[in-house]
Amino acid sequence: MLQNGIDKNRLDFIRLREAKAISHFDCGDADLNDFILNRASAYQKQKLAVSYACVDSNDASRVYAYCSLANDKVALDDFKDKTEFNRFRKKRGFPNEKRLKSYPAVKLCRLGVENSVKGKQIGTTVIDFIKSMSALDSNAGCRFLTVDANLNAVPFYEKNGFVRMNAKDDNPHTRLMYFDLNDIAGDPV
Ligand SMILES: CC(C)(COP(=O)(O)OP(=O)(O)OC[C@H]1O[C@@H](n2cnc3c(N)ncnc32)[C@H](O)[C@@H]1OP(=O)(O)O)[C@@H](O)C(=O)NCCC(=O)NCCS
Repeated sequence: MLQNGIDKNRLDFIRLREAKAISHFDCGDADLNDFILNRASAYQKQKLAVSYACVDSNDASRVYAYCSLANDKVALDDFKDKTEFNRFRKKRGFPNEKRLKSYPAVKLCRLGVENSVKGKQIGTTVIDFIKSMSALDSNAGCRFLTVDANLNAVPFYEKNGFVRMNAKDDNPHTRLMYFDLNDIAGDPV
């Protein structure tokens, strides 16, 4: 065990398949709990989202966290207006010939950490897993991670390098945020 976290060698990531249903999970959010306990398989079957469980490497029935991912894009609609979208494209360093109408992304649809292990850097480990998989192991182009962050989770995403897509976003429940996968060192050319 690390001082404030959990030993990452004790964690495995398992891509959930229908046969591997999770029977116990509580992250304190009823909808997120219900998804992984009851709905994730159907989403997987319909190819709408792929879920991963972060489990104890010595006991895979011990689920510490899960995440659910789907393909996404960053496009004009995500911004207040074209000026904001152009500002974003400039900030992310896209040259004129790469000023595309949209950019490929992976959406973090859901993320939950089991109540008993919150605050031990497990959420951060899940984010690192997603960053690494999307930046280094993806079979298709993917430049950004996106998330509709619950308001109470915004500081967590900020600590993990996500920034708000649109400063004028005033959704009462969520904030649209992104992480630029080009910010990861060691991305192979
Ligand atoms: C949000 C959540 C995923 C964070 O997971 P976690 O494993 O507890 O987070 P970590 O331990 O990796 O935290 C990393 C950093 O973010 C901070 N942080 C985490 N959650 C925070 C919160 N709600 N508010 C402020 N800071 C937070 C931690 O203090 C830590 O800071 P440090 O590195 O300076 O110590 C978890 O609390 C959770 O499952 N919440 C309920 C469901 C939810 O809201 N999911 C997000 C859906 S968008």
